[in-house]
Amino acid sequence: MTQAGPVRPDPSRRIVLGIGGGIAAYKVCEVLRRLTEAGHEVRVVPTETALRFVGAPTWEALSGLPVHHGLFADVPEVPHVRLGQTADLVLVAPTTADLLARAAHGRADDLLCATLLTARCPVLLVPAMHTEMWEHPATVHNVEVLRCRGTVVAQPASGRLTGADSGAGRLPEPAEIVELATLLLHRADALPRDLTGRHVVISAGGTHEPLDPVRYLGNRSSGRQGYALARVAAQRGAQVTLVAAHTADLTDPAGAEVIRVSTARDMRKVVLTAAPHADAVVMAAAVADFRPADPASDKIKKSPSDPDPLSLVLNPDVLLELLRCRPTGQVVVGFAAETGDSERDVLTHGRAKLARKGCDLLVVNAVGRGGAFEVDHNTGWLLSDDGVEAELPEGPKSLLASYVWDAVVARLEPSS
Ligand code: CTP
Repeated sequence: MTQAGPVRPDPSRRIVLGIGGGIAAYKVCEVLRRLTEAGHEVRVVPTETALRFVGAPTWEALSGLPVHHGLFADVPEVPHVRLGQTADLVLVAPTTADLLARAAHGRADDLLCATLLTARCPVLLVPAMHTEMWEHPATVHNVEVLRCRGTVVAQPASGRLTGADSGAGRLPEPAEIVELATLLLHRADALPRDLTGRHVVISAGGTHEPLDPVRYLGNRSSGRQGYALARVAAQRGAQVTLVAAHTADLTDPAGAEVIRVSTARDMRKVVLTAAPHADAVVMAAAVADFRPADPASDKIKKSPSDPDPLSLVLNPDVLLELLRCRPTGQVVVGFAAETGDSERDVLTHGRAKLARKGCDLLVVNAVGRGGAFEVDHNTGWLLSDDGVEAELPEGPKSLLASYVWDAVVARLEPSS
């Protein structure tokens, strides 16, 4: 069994948070709050223009540290060199079109751009601008230049922009920015653009099978692992279709198409319609194996004469159906949340499931080891049909997602 690499146990890291001069700067106050609450030391470096949107006292109060912005402040400490040299991550949000241009050209005309030149740690730029600016050939070229150099330029979200405009270029939600930053702190090479030109379908959440108008059979899946898979795939360049069952409290991943479903039969229909055009399908959803045979149209009343009013029938197995009609070259990944029992441990159950289902890869989670359901971290094993088994290190669900995509990419045939 191969080991996928250690996670640093100490979560406290040094982050430089650069703020560009855009209205979305106000949303980054929440990013800062979340990063400091996670125990990180965050040095805020706003541009002069950024300070016209949100003032230095706000950044100082939220970070608990003085704010640096001029090249000529604290000169004996050489901040234009030290900040970048000593950071574990430089995160810039919002990154304006102007900042992208200056970074692409290696300018050092303010403290933030000087910091970008001296940083040897991962750099994550989160753009926010109007759609016309994001799609302008000059910006497209600047993004390409930065990505070729290894800078992670995040995919912006689509939606409401300043004023009445709507389109691509919206700053992703703070939780999503923090998730990407946390992922890069765990694994600097987690977001290559190796899914560019690929279409992936991911299922997430847990289906609900109605019993009557007020009750359903459900499960504990929150959808967070499926959303992390979607988020990481979109940031690695994929076109993402996310089929989501009961994930209302999660933010749509930037750049993904989200299709909401409720029951196992809804999920079957949507996944089987999207899958024929996909390069990879990942079934992270917890699909109910059974549903009430005959859901009542009125609320079922308890009755001593009928103490057991439920009769169940088997639901379709979406994964098995997918595998039966999959196009050549498509990579299919299943998930299995297992508990051991008196006869077999979790891994033995996982190996048997991989053989029974016939998918290419199976992620096995041990239920009850603190991961899997309703939490932000996960761990497990990645089993391949060729017998290779990797233990996945404990970490955020986006970290597990990054290892799953590595394995998928390794199996994809070169695109024509
Ligand atoms: N799955 C599916 N359709 C179902 C049940 C499961 O597509 N009706 C998929 C899940 O999304 C997951 C994989 O199959 O990727 C394994 O799910 P799991 O519930 O662990 O497998 P089951 O075959 O239902 O086996 P068990 O008897 O252990 O529940």
